[in-house]
Amino acid sequence: MVSKVLVTGGFGFIGSHIVEELLRKGFQVGVLDNLSTGVESNLAEERPRIKIHRADITDLVTLRKVVIGYEAIYHEAALVSVKRSVEDPISTHMVNAGGTLNVLKVAVESKIRKLVYASSSSVYGNSQSLPKKEDMRCLPVSPYAVSKLAGEAYCSAFARVYGLDTISLRYFNVYGPRQREGQYSGVIPIFIGKALRNENPVIFGDGTQMRDFTYVDDVVKANILSLEMETDPGEILNIATGTPVTINLLADVISRETGKDNLKPIYEKPRPEDVYASYADITKANSVLGYRPGVTLEQGIRKVIDWFVSTGIYARQR
Ligand SMILES: NC(=O)c1ccc[n+]([C@@H]2O[C@H](COP(=O)([O-])OP(=O)(O)OC[C@H]3O[C@@H](n4cnc5c(N)ncnc54)[C@H](O)[C@@H]3O)[C@@H](O)[C@H]2O)c1
Repeated sequence: MVSKVLVTGGFGFIGSHIVEELLRKGFQVGVLDNLSTGVESNLAEERPRIKIHRADITDLVTLRKVVIGYEAIYHEAALVSVKRSVEDPISTHMVNAGGTLNVLKVAVESKIRKLVYASSSSVYGNSQSLPKKEDMRCLPVSPYAVSKLAGEAYCSAFARVYGLDTISLRYFNVYGPRQREGQYSGVIPIFIGKALRNENPVIFGDGTQMRDFTYVDDVVKANILSLEMETDPGEILNIATGTPVTINLLADVISRETGKDNLKPIYEKPRPEDVYASYADITKANSVLGYRPGVTLEQGIRKVIDWFVSTGIYARQR
């Protein structure tokens, strides 16, 4: 039984939710983060109960020291934005592919019993068939997607060559509290922030493109199950809801839930680095982990709006 767990990127959006749940379950938790996009306030209450390692995953020497004594690793640290990867593909590669290779290398040296890797639906890229299934050919279209696929391929190779027990979870469009609005953030915080400021959402393309929006609690659930269940080394699973949602529908739900029905989308040219449609077949995660998503889009959006309002930056005006 594993008791000491290290979460890389633990001060980030998804990582901090995983840390909270691990603490609730009684694990001893360490967080490794360079605070490039993560913030310590994400774990303000938990701070006394976690061991903090302010370090960079591209620094192999420090990483080697940090990992000693841990039994499992959740590897969430990455440069996450597709847009940023287009502007600066080299740093995205160094952190996401190179940093993952470092984490895997020290995991083998420290005899880590399980490594759970945060992969991404972006690895499928423009493969045409829908829904996306794990055995489909991956055709990544952005430098970010290539870097996440490289990390995933390293996980599978390390499972095969060094016997490291890895599992890669391909998250689909995760959203939830603590996902901040900004030029590199996901569409949901951007649309909610705009709605709360009475600004129209901007849609790239005609809004018929589909995504599979997954509430962060469901992603945390899949991560916990990945540690609890015995899985094949090198396993790869989609983590999503399996329900496609168009960007037009998302904009509608957000204007309804924020009480801003007057707002109308502004349509701009599609961006070449975006895939057109993406939603998952989650049969495999269900049969391997017993994973089932539990939060609907409306429920999740309401929780995120409440969080935005609770931060005090916005007031809800109905
Ligand atoms: N948010 C999504 O929709 C989504 C979808 C698919 C996959 N993912 C993956 O999930 C993981 C977490 O994403 P997130 O949305 O929480 O992003 P995030 O930016 O909130 O979290 C990433 C964390 O990693 C840390 N970090 C970045 N570079 C680092 C480095 N060199 N060394 C140490 N720490 C570093 C950041 O400070 C931050 O705390 C990432 O691996 C991402 O690729 C996210």
